[in-house]
Amino acid sequence: MSDFKKINPSEITDNPFDLIGKDWALVAAKNGDYCNMMTASWGGVGIMWNKPAAFTFIRPQRFTFGLMEKEDYYSLSFYDEEYREALKFCGTQSGRDFDKAAECNLTPCFDEKAPYFKEAKLVMICRKMYAQDLNEQSIIDTKMLGPQYNGDDYHKMYISEIIKVLKK
Ligand SMILES: Cc1cc2nc3c(=O)[nH]c(=O)nc-3n(C[C@H](O)[C@H](O)[C@H](O)COP(=O)(O)O)c2cc1C
Repeated sequence: MSDFKKINPSEITDNPFDLIGKDWALVAAKNGDYCNMMTASWGGVGIMWNKPAAFTFIRPQRFTFGLMEKEDYYSLSFYDEEYREALKFCGTQSGRDFDKAAECNLTPCFDEKAPYFKEAKLVMICRKMYAQDLNEQSIIDTKMLGPQYNGDDYHKMYISEIIKVLKK
């Protein structure tokens, strides 16, 4: 039986700056019963079109990107500090080379529209509403160009409705 309890997005008490920027998230998407995940520390949560929303930024070279593009749903999941090494692995190795869930001893759950992992403390199931590639012309703070981009690796921004939140 699942330890997760369904809560409303407004019941999340974690500080989003810490949750995303310091603790980091796993972004997971699937293709059939295959899933892959990658670490993300950029993004946000808030409101878009009057819906609870997640803002996720994925570079096109990520293996996860291909899965994200094919499916309407993905998950963001968050972990206690003891999983830091797993998140480092998922943020430095690719699903092209590893079954990351097996390598990190994370247990995929497929009982929602997007995969997530049993070991998470908090899960957001996200439904894509809008996606757009970032591009050089739109970057106002051009000081960001050099440190962040090579010219062909602009993130794609996904604005997604958070359709379900699961918390332990
Ligand atoms: C702390 C941390 C944060 C990261 N944040 C992002 C991010 O927000 N967007 C992104 O595209 N890549 C991000 N990455 C890089 C991906 O997690 C990394 O390239 C990963 O190996 C991609 O895996 P995949 O090829 O299996 O999709 C981050 C990596 C780390 C370590």
